[in-house]
Amino acid sequence: MSLNKIGRSKDCESTAKQRWKLLGKALINKGLRKNITSEVSVRRFSSYGLLTTKKNILLSPLSEDTENYSWFQYSSPSHKDFCITIRHLKQQFSPEELIGFNNTGNVCVWPSEEVLAHHCLTHRSIFREKTVCELGGGMTCLAGLAVACSSDATRVILTDGNDLSCKNIEVIVEKNKGTFINTPVDVRNVRWNEESSYIDLKDSVDVIICADCLFFDQYRSDLVDTIHCLLSSDGTAIIFAPCRNRTLEKFCQQAKSRFDVTIEDNYDPTVWSVFQQAKAKGKEVFDEDIHYPLKITLTKRGHPKISHHTSNRVHLDVNHSTEINGHTEVKQWDCTKGHSEIKHLNGGVQGNRVG
Ligand SMILES: C[S@@+](CC[C@H](N)C(=O)[O-])C[C@H]1O[C@@H](n2cnc3c(N)ncnc32)[C@H](O)[C@@H]1O
Repeated sequence: MSLNKIGRSKDCESTAKQRWKLLGKALINKGLRKNITSEVSVRRFSSYGLLTTKKNILLSPLSEDTENYSWFQYSSPSHKDFCITIRHLKQQFSPEELIGFNNTGNVCVWPSEEVLAHHCLTHRSIFREKTVCELGGGMTCLAGLAVACSSDATRVILTDGNDLSCKNIEVIVEKNKGTFINTPVDVRNVRWNEESSYIDLKDSVDVIICADCLFFDQYRSDLVDTIHCLLSSDGTAIIFAPCRNRTLEKFCQQAKSRFDVTIEDNYDPTVWSVFQQAKAKGKEVFDEDIHYPLKITLTKRGHPKISHHTSNRVHLDVNHSTEINGHTEVKQWDCTKGHSEIKHLNGGVQGNRVG
């Protein structure tokens, strides 16, 4: 069986394509339908190749027809100490099940999650002695697991709103508990639209991580509320998501009322390089609007942060000013064009946070 970098067979890919097509037809919500229909093409570009996966045939069931999961060994060519055993679900979802309570996290590990996991491994020191929570981590919470097994986090809380995802994450945590060393790892069903599912964590989380969760029109403001409730006053939320038909922009607009918001496009040289190569293949293969995750950082208003910029990073605001090496560039992220445009240049303005 031929596998791509994140462990899917070509057969699985075409099945997934059909599933998404079916779902697209079944959806009533116009905006979501547009998003999900676009998702079909995600299968054309499914991975940044940041992590390598190898099927664990000893753990996986012999009969793939009767069982609905497979185990994979995840490792990272650039972070040799990272190795984790992850269970993928292979559930056949009806369109109703997919949209019922969202099963999009049970279909695959999305590129944003892969990029977030890579980012967490690269910047593991930011989690030292911190309470970390992943929101909407899907069936693996891969990035949260990367934090748990590679950093000195005080505590890691892995969450999703889908019961099937949470059950799968519990199994994965049990399998990998030897690799977490001193970091307690909890799995919880946190639903952004149910305050009772997270209120006990109020103000207790130092770093929230989240990947590809901004396109749910009906839950977008709930997600902003959840992040605001969980985050400690000097905490940070690190979110990776593609522009996806302006849904990232809508999220940032809502978040700006309560957070300082920074958006970056060039946050990692490896990801940037793969992005440039993929883009050169043309929109049929790689559609920047749905395939390239931007990095969004949220901090609560009135709590300035020390920035960790490198010179090649570009900081984008959905609307207004950004700073690069002391120069302020006024850029506007154009989701339809899939890139930022410099609208104005000036000098002397300090600070890189926007809002
Ligand atoms: C596109 S998936 C992303 C999963 C994973 N982060 C990834 O990138 O592979 C979106 C996730 O958001 C979760 N989700 C959707 N609405 C939610 C809600 N109201 N509360 C909690 N989780 C929700 C879904 O269950 C799903 O796992």
